[in-house]
Amino acid sequence: MRQSIFKLGLLALGIAASVFVGCDRQPAQAPATGSSQGPAGGSPTDPILVGEYGSLTGAQATFGQQTHEGIMLAVNQINAAGGVSVGGKGPKRQLKVITYDTRGQAAEASNAVTRLVTDDKVVAVLGEVASSLSLAGAPVAQKYGVPMISPSSTNPKVTQVGDMIFRICFIDPFQGFVTATFARQTLKVSKVAVLYDQSQAYSVGLKESFVKAFTAQAGTIVTEQAYKGGDQDFNAQLTTIRQTSPQAIYVPGYYSDVGNIAVQARKLGIGNDIPLMGGDGWESEKLLEIAGSALDGSFYSNHYANDNTGPEAQRFVADFKAAYKDDPDAMSALGYDAARILADAITRTESLAGKDLAKAIGETHDFVGVTGTISLNADRNADKTAVIIEIKNSKPVYRASVEPSKK
Ligand code: PHE
Repeated sequence: MRQSIFKLGLLALGIAASVFVGCDRQPAQAPATGSSQGPAGGSPTDPILVGEYGSLTGAQATFGQQTHEGIMLAVNQINAAGGVSVGGKGPKRQLKVITYDTRGQAAEASNAVTRLVTDDKVVAVLGEVASSLSLAGAPVAQKYGVPMISPSSTNPKVTQVGDMIFRICFIDPFQGFVTATFARQTLKVSKVAVLYDQSQAYSVGLKESFVKAFTAQAGTIVTEQAYKGGDQDFNAQLTTIRQTSPQAIYVPGYYSDVGNIAVQARKLGIGNDIPLMGGDGWESEKLLEIAGSALDGSFYSNHYANDNTGPEAQRFVADFKAAYKDDPDAMSALGYDAARILADAITRTESLAGKDLAKAIGETHDFVGVTGTISLNADRNADKTAVIIEIKNSKPVYRASVEPSKK
């Protein structure tokens, strides 16, 4: 494993501590984070305030932690190089990130965005990772006219909330298509069982996209079973699945549940010879800590693979390792790209007012990111290449890439 559970625990504590210290409005910080700075970004020499909301604790803690590390690496590099100049004119200003923990909960996500926008007066918000949490935060950003960029939420509905809401990743209809096609064409699988998380917008939507693409390619879904994130016992669903003799099981969930499902499936004797398949929600080093060898021979779609990188990404992997003594994952890479795209938009915007900044973000074109070349389309999404990761000897290994034009 890249990192022991012990070290990850310390990391979580370290981040949580810095967040709480950094974000409680202490008297010394009032001028920077309080009402002295209006929504248009304060005086021409103040730091530009950027909000971040993410799950730094809770069931999807690695999503928020890894994203935060990616965002901070980008911001520290930008600040070390002098900062950003609004519209490319005037003095360079530092970026200052204010981060709140959503604990993986929708109510916390919407509170976090409300605080960032109304109390801290950030110029833009980065987050969330999980689609259900972005769907909770986005209406707040939209209502107050402050741009939000999700690094990694893939449910189509997220950016449909309104014209202030952007993402820099692909969406689930593409991701579902990529895995369905890989299963059908490469693995030559024709009978698949599905086990999805009915409590997550991400899982429900990705399940639908996979089923649509798989059946369109003359594949058969032998059964669809559901669970709720955090469930511990999957025996009933897995026993039903076993009776349908699938050639693969599609599990579009988040890593903790998927790890438990894999272990229980193998115990029931299911799937010792068939792959489990899933989406980007599997992306966490925790997945294989929980699953051990139970996922060997399984596959998932993702945004990025550390072992398949161009020059931009190689530099990022090296910088990340130097900063954190650890490998990045897809979320760190997407967090890094999201922060740099926001900084790039700030250098092109008329002003820091929400409408102007949203226009500049929407005009992002051929931005060379770590996760690929990023252009935002009319729906405020990015059409990007997906990768398929194979799990071999309890390690994720790059297997294939699929370009967006393939759909
Ligand atoms: N795409 C997932 C969602 O929308 C979140 C995610 C992104 C998870 C990237 C892992 C990696 O909920």
